[in-house]
Amino acid sequence: MITLALSKGRILDDTLPLLEQAGIRLAGKASGRELILPTTDPQVRIIIVRATDVPTYVQYGGADLGVAGRDVLIEHGGDGLYQPVDLGIARCRMSVAAPETFDYKAAVRRGARLRIATKYVTAARRHFAAKGVHVDLIKLYGSMELAPLVGLADAIVDLVSTGNTLRANRLVEVEHFLDISARVAVNQAALKLKGERLRPLIERLDAAARAKVES
Ligand code: ATP
Ligand code: PRP
Repeated sequence: MITLALSKGRILDDTLPLLEQAGIRLAGKASGRELILPTTDPQVRIIIVRATDVPTYVQYGGADLGVAGRDVLIEHGGDGLYQPVDLGIARCRMSVAAPETFDYKAAVRRGARLRIATKYVTAARRHFAAKGVHVDLIKLYGSMELAPLVGLADAIVDLVSTGNTLRANRLVEVEHFLDISARVAVNQAALKLKGERLRPLIERLDAAARAKVES
């Protein structure tokens, strides 16, 4: 049996069409509450976990492979994971955003120490270290946009797609530093033990993702 970890929402929604291209569909109708979903391939099942838990399930073998955003994989660290395919789905970018009244570029130029609120502390730390900017990172688990509005931080690091969330909170994207999309992450031990089954599935997902880009 091959176990594939997906998260509800955009990862599940965008992965199902690729799986279908790879010849695998959900078996029957799910109520939305089941956490283990059988597929039309009796040797493949899907488990539904939180987006941030996908790499953990794969790392410890609770799933043989999973689909997770580059953001999630960076924060996890990628230990024990092989990442062979970028599926090109759930695309967005990671950016620094600040209130219109905060002159981010000037603050960086004068070497100010910035307070940055984010869920993505590893990616943010790397970005500011590479720029030589001193930051105090404040870890949040959501609603980052609020932090600069109530004086908790000067700026935030968050994911941006349409920019609607930032606009709704009167924040401006001041620096886009990482392109994000979802990748396949595979348990390295499973790849050895179940390679005969896993490799063709990974190849079919890769082909489906490429075909989607070309169309
Ligand atoms: P959790 O449930 O663990 O808090 P989450 O709410 O971040 O996770 P989703 O919102 O489903 O989970 O996002 C899953 C992935 O989709 C993210 O890790 C990211 O790679 C990508 N993503 C997030 N926001 C967007 C967006 N607005 N547009 C496109 N892709 C996005
Ligand atoms: C993500 C992210 C931003 C938002 C950006 O949140 O954390 O808040 O999407 O997308 P936008 O630039 O298109 O507004 P989340 O997944 O909670 O929001 P969503 O599913 O409503 O996009």
